[in-house]
Amino acid sequence: MEQFVWTDDLNLGIDIIDAQHRRIVDYIAEIGQAIEQQDAALVFDVMERLKDYTLDHFSFEEQLMQKAGYVLCEAHQAKHRRFEDKVERLSDSLRQGDDPFGVARRIRNTLMAWLIQHIKHEDIDYVPVVKKVLAKEQSWISGALNRIFNGGVTQS
Ligand SMILES: [Fe+2]
Repeated sequence: MEQFVWTDDLNLGIDIIDAQHRRIVDYIAEIGQAIEQQDAALVFDVMERLKDYTLDHFSFEEQLMQKAGYVLCEAHQAKHRRFEDKVERLSDSLRQGDDPFGVARRIRNTLMAWLIQHIKHEDIDYVPVVKKVLAKEQSWISGALNRIFNGGVTQS
């Protein structure tokens, strides 16, 4: 059975990133609720929030990897761009009038599967180097969070 909820094995052990990943999973779960309730407006609404938040999260993660001097940063960024393309195509398909619940199921299934494998196989790899930078760059982190998320996210 496919998974659409947060489970502890998705934790990287970096609270600030785990909280952001968890929020993306919450959006995906909300898409599931929109399908259950057959609420098309909610599908559109969640899709917009999911897209905006994911872009901000990637931006934060990429700046953090750069700051940390993570060697696979560019390859990782390329993965993010491909995911953004996926999200963009799904969003276009919604806007073009495709069945919103069909698109919603694709959003839920493909995005969740991608996210799980990305966290477990790619994000996990930057953990040691990013942990080091987090320990000594607290003011840079706060500044980056405010800049990227417009102060709309907490560090917990
Ligand atoms: Fe990532």
